[in-house]
Order: sequence, then structure tokens, then C-alpha cells
Amino acid sequence: MMSKELAHKPVLINEIIKLTGPKDNETYFDATFGNGGYSKEFLELTNCNIIAIDRDPFVNQIAKEFKKKYGKRFEFFHSKFSKINEVMEKTEEKEIDGFVFDIGVSSMQLDFPERGFSFMKEGPLDMRMGQEGTTAYDVVNSKSHEELADIIYYYGDERNSRRIAQEIETYRKSRKIETTLELAEVIKKCFPNKYYKKHPATKTFQALRIYINNELEELHSGLNHALKYLKKNGNLCVVTFHSLEDRLVKNFLKIASQNDKINKVLKPSKDEIEYNSRSRSAKLRFYEKNNLEFGYVPIENLGFKQS
Ligand SMILES: C[S@@+](CC[C@H](N)C(=O)[O-])C[C@H]1O[C@@H](n2cnc3c(N)ncnc32)[C@H](O)[C@@H]1O
Repeated sequence: MMSKELAHKPVLINEIIKLTGPKDNETYFDATFGNGGYSKEFLELTNCNIIAIDRDPFVNQIAKEFKKKYGKRFEFFHSKFSKINEVMEKTEEKEIDGFVFDIGVSSMQLDFPERGFSFMKEGPLDMRMGQEGTTAYDVVNSKSHEELADIIYYYGDERNSRRIAQEIETYRKSRKIETTLELAEVIKKCFPNKYYKKHPATKTFQALRIYINNELEELHSGLNHALKYLKKNGNLCVVTFHSLEDRLVKNFLKIASQNDKINKVLKPSKDEIEYNSRSRSAKLRFYEKNNLEFGYVPIENLGFKQS
């Protein structure tokens, strides 16, 4: 069982509750169940229903405990954003009162070194949220220097990307890069200054994680599905943790909300940042569906190319 310190603290949850205003018998969709922090808050506050998904099979056990406690009010599917339409077909609901997305890695994923997400703890180079497909090990050890540099630059916004890719290639000539700390050490060599504000591996790890999990395409697909299934006056909350995701959400909602009045952005309070330092870069975007003419928004219209 997970210790209290490791448990994920739901980011911006008070703001989300205030904006969405859940009511008895309404149905909310928690697209990033994780440790169940958001779902729990909704289920405890009102007699509403929750449909939840997560692509990470490690959360299935937590979902089982929720099912025991909340019965018919809670349904969980091991699934991902791009398959929300398939999930909706399996439920009795045709429309949803509100969607919540809390994007990115969970503290549960970061805190377990064997998942390979953290550059602070030794673990295998994995980084797959869904435990399927290409691992970080595959990418780091088999992509060409140019491909690696592009991934690190595009998904990590890392100006030192070419140098890092070069250093990885040089290291690989003598042996494979097997672990998170081994990769972090290779990256560190590209940053001669010993005093950094952020660990030099931060952006490269972010880039690899986003690439491996196809996160931008997933988010784009999830937002399109959410807007399709939202009721009139239904709402959408999206919490992001870095500018790449936030830009995608902002551009998407700008297009989707042509005739809509409400499209807000909120940040955590000083108190929340003090209590949970991981929340410091979080941004919450809120949208209310008044425009029923809304159609599909292609990813190219958001200033992103598909990988
Ligand atoms: C930041 S955590 C959410 C934490 C949750 N709000 C809580 O309070 O415990 C993000 C979760 O979303 C999941 N996730 C990320 N991308 C996903 C996707 N495309 N489809 C489904 N789940 C996804 C991750 O596996 C992770 O468990």
C-alpha cells in the first residue's frame, strides 16, 4: 500500500470544483484517474456519477477499491484519451456534464523508480504509462543522432538538443544506455556549469516521455472527443504542467469557443504551491460548451505537426 507522502495530491482541485459545480445525478468524466484524487472529491461532495479512465494498468487496483465503495456511481475503464468514443459506447451515458483532464505523469509514476520516469532515482529506461510499445531504452539506443536531437528539441524545448544527441551517440559506441541515472549522467556532461536552477536532464526526460507516450496526439484526440460528448452548458477542465501542452489546449479552446464567453485560465495559489511543490507549474483552463455547432479540430490547426 502506498504511503501518504507518495499519494498524489490533486492539483487545483478546489478551483475545479468551484468552476464545474457538480450536482446530484450529473455525470462527470475523469480522463486521468491516477490515484483517484479528482474522482474522490466529486463523489464525496455530491451524489454525482463518475466515468473514469487511465491508460496505466497500475491504477486498476485503486479503481477496484473505488468500485467497492461507490458501486454504480463509479465506472472505470483501462483506456486512453484517443479511445474515449469506445468507452462512451460501453456506458449507458450519451452525454457528459463535465470532463476533467489532469495531464502528465502522476506522482505515483514518478515515485516508483522501476517505471523509469525519474532522473533522480535509478531505474530501467522505460517511461511507458501504458506498459506497451516502445520504451525509452529503445529510443535512446536506436534512434539516429538527428532523430534524437529533433525529439529533444521539439518535445523538450531544449536548446542544447544537438549536443545531447551527440553525447548519447558517442556513449552508445562503447555500451548501451541502460538506466535513468546513466542517461542523466550523459546529459549532464553537456552542461559544464555545475550550478543549475533545474536538473540538466529535466527537459530531455520530459521530451522522451511525451514522445514515447504520444502525449500531444493523445491530448488532441481526447479534447475532440470531450467536446463531442459534452452536454450544452457542460464544462471542461484541463490542467497542464508545461507550455507545450498548455499551448495545445489554449489554441484548441480558442477555436472551439468561438461563440462562447467562458474560457478561463487559473494557476495554483501560493498556499497550494507551498503544500505541493509539484503544482508550481500547473495551469488550469476552463471551457463551457455553448457552441453546439462545434466540429473536429485537426492538430495542424493548433500549430502542431504530428510525429
Ligand atoms: C497527473 S496524473 C492524474 C492524477 C489524478 N488527477 C489524481 O488526482 O490522482 C495523470 C494520469 O493520467 C494518465 N494518463 C496520461 N495520459 C493518458 C491518456 N492519454 N489516456 C489515459 N490516461 C492518461 C496517467 O497514466 C496518470 O495516471
